[in-house]
Amino acid sequence: MKRLLEGLVENNRVYTAGGKVASYIPELGKANKDSLGIWITTLQGEEYFAGDFEERFTIQSISKVITLMLAILDNGKEYVFKKVGMEATADAFNSIINLETKNPQRPLNPMINSGAIATVSLIAGDGRDNTFERILKFTRKITGNPDININEDVYHSESITGDRNRALAYFMKSTGVIENDVEDVLDVYFKQCSIEGTCKDIARVGAVLANNGVLPWSGERIIPVYVARIVKTIMLTCGMYDASGDAAVKIGIPCKSGVGGGILAAAPGRMGIGVFGPALDQKGNSSGGMRLLEELSKELDLSIF
Ligand code: DON
Repeated sequence: MKRLLEGLVENNRVYTAGGKVASYIPELGKANKDSLGIWITTLQGEEYFAGDFEERFTIQSISKVITLMLAILDNGKEYVFKKVGMEATADAFNSIINLETKNPQRPLNPMINSGAIATVSLIAGDGRDNTFERILKFTRKITGNPDININEDVYHSESITGDRNRALAYFMKSTGVIENDVEDVLDVYFKQCSIEGTCKDIARVGAVLANNGVLPWSGERIIPVYVARIVKTIMLTCGMYDASGDAAVKIGIPCKSGVGGGILAAAPGRMGIGVFGPALDQKGNSSGGMRLLEELSKELDLSIF
C-alpha cells in the first residue's frame, strides 16, 4: 500500500502545475503550489500515507461536513432540511443567483456557501464564540486530535475579504432563512473555514463516516447511522460543487473539497482518505487531489457503483 501511494503521488504531482492556489482569500495565496499528499485510515485502524501528508492547511469547505452533522444532531433532520435543501446545483460554490431564482426561503444544499451559512446558524450555543467552541470540540473528537485549532491569520483574512458571503447571509436574513445576528453567524462560519489540520485529520473524519458514525480507533459511536448516511449522500451529490457528477463518475465515493486544497473522502465500509494539494482547478477543487483520488479509486476498486 505504501508503495502504491508513493507512486500515485509522484505520478499525479504533474497535475498541480495546471491549477492555481486560491487567492481570493489572500492568506491562502501563500500555499506551496506543488504540494500533494495523502493519508488513508482504514476501518481496521491501519494508517498509510505518502507525499506532503504532514503539511498543515485550513479545511475551508470541508468544515461544512462537520457543521451539517452538528446541525442535524442539535435540531433533527426534519428541521434542518426545512431550512436548507438537499439538491445539487450546477453553479459555483459561492453563487448568489439560485438564492433568488429558486427558493429565497431555502438555499439549495448545505455544501454550497449559502446553505452552509444557513446550516451553521442552526447550531446550538450563544450563536458566536460558544457555538464555535462546540464545533471545535466536535472536530477534535471526530479527528481524534485534541490539538486542532484555527489558523488566526486565515481567519482574519477571510473575515476581511468575505463580502460575497456577507451578501449571501444578509440576503438570507431578509428572507427569514437566517434568524440570528448575521455578523455573529458569519464570524462562526469564517472560523469553521479556518480550522487547520492535515491529511490525517480529514482522513479520520472520512473513516468515521465510512464506519457509519463509529470512531474506528476507539469503537465509540459519535453520530447515529442515519446522520452518517445523510452526510455521505449529500457529499456525493453536492460535495464537489459543479464537479460533483464528474467526481461521482470518476471517483465514485462521497468526497468534500475545500479551497485550502484538501479533499476528504469516505469509502463506505473500507477507509477514510485525506488528500491535500493547494493548486485548484477552475471549480475550486484540488487539481492534483482529484486525479490522485481517481487513480486510487481505480487501483483499490473503491467506487460504490
Ligand atoms: O466561504 C468561502 O469562500 C471559503 N471560506 C470556503 C469555500 C470553499 O472552501 C469552497 N471549496 N472549494
